[in-house]
Amino acid sequence: MYIVACALALVVLISPAADALDNGLALTPTMGWLHWERFLCNTDCDSDPDNCISERLYMQMADVMAKEGWREAGYEYVCIDDCWPSHQRDARGRLQADPKRFPGGIKKLADYVHSKGLKLGIYADVGKSTCAGYPGSLGYYETDAQTFADWDVDLLKFDGCNMDWTLVGEGYVNMSKALNKTGRSILYSCEWPLYEWHFKKPNYTAIREACNHWRNFDDVFDSWSSVKSILDWTAFHQDMIVPAAGPGGWNDPDMLVIGNFGLSHAQQESQMALWAIMAAPLLVSNDLRDICPRSKELLQNRRIIDISQDALGRQGYRTAKVDTFEVWERPLSKNRLAIAVINMLELGGSRRFFIQAIPGWKICEPQCNVTQILPQYQEMGVQTPRSKIHLSVNPSGTALLTITPIRDFTGSHKVQWEDTSVRRKHTIL
Ligand code: GLA
Repeated sequence: MYIVACALALVVLISPAADALDNGLALTPTMGWLHWERFLCNTDCDSDPDNCISERLYMQMADVMAKEGWREAGYEYVCIDDCWPSHQRDARGRLQADPKRFPGGIKKLADYVHSKGLKLGIYADVGKSTCAGYPGSLGYYETDAQTFADWDVDLLKFDGCNMDWTLVGEGYVNMSKALNKTGRSILYSCEWPLYEWHFKKPNYTAIREACNHWRNFDDVFDSWSSVKSILDWTAFHQDMIVPAAGPGGWNDPDMLVIGNFGLSHAQQESQMALWAIMAAPLLVSNDLRDICPRSKELLQNRRIIDISQDALGRQGYRTAKVDTFEVWERPLSKNRLAIAVINMLELGGSRRFFIQAIPGWKICEPQCNVTQILPQYQEMGVQTPRSKIHLSVNPSGTALLTITPIRDFTGSHKVQWEDTSVRRKHTIL
């Protein structure tokens, strides 16, 4: 028997997030589909009509989203990424969609997506050109914001390539103002901090005031090493970035790659669980027309989505590394708590992990209800501070739990997660 007890790192008590961009959007993390990771900059519609960046692709995704439970599960935005425009602006200086691949134009596409009860996202860049070399918005912020508003677009992903880094912040703020000036509600997805981190510490107060979410770190790839690197980056910077998240503004660890080629099912469960713990936008990049039923079920798992969309709006964070395990926690509304335990050992079979309350861990005082959501749903019943919660976690998989305090009749046990999340004993067998 192998026992490890660990004192958890003290996580700074999180003060309420600073003022968010006041556009009434992203009060919970954005949910939708985004083309980039799966479809990249495939513009070859002659030889690959089903997978090229064209109006057909977004219409087909919208069809599937409306028909196959995605919209009902909360996935709302159908988002275009890079490579949609023509290489030239029109005579009036406006961006225009590539006429061959978008013969109906963006306005018609927005109408179509809206007719399915969904919203349309588009992509542009703060600098001279986009990352893939299409026209950037530098010098055209107001024109482009107005063009997107005229087309009835609902979300803008604004990239940061090909821009002097000292002007990146100013550019993002100016586009935020330009969007606001249009009077249309356009959710504003930024990559501001990602383009500053190489040079200086980003100002998250300013970022939160201008953007509805913001990318901090590298693009996600279809691999476990990529997902792991994002988790590591996030945990390493959590004292700085977690306090910035809250209703109206979120840290964006990039797309969900669930349903593609690179992740095992356990790894897909880990990505889904941890993106929910991190209060991350759930923007899926896969082919919804052809997805394995298990991945679909995972992405539509109502209990995980409830954690993601929890009304308290606090981002979770890593609270312990114990042997090969990582423990992440997210405070939820009604004094509940979500706990994710990842087994980082990519070897062997499932490993056992015990969570045992020690005196001072009040969430289970006098009693709490424990529900396991991953790897399978299971009511673990009423527990007390003396209970040992037994988990079994697959290699690179995650056990995801929620803990709900049960108060006594007088209500005198006011459970505050802040009082309780920092002292715990984790035991591994
Ligand atoms: C950058 C972004 C990606 C994607 C590509 C498009 O790399 O971080 O998410 O938008 O550009 O070129």
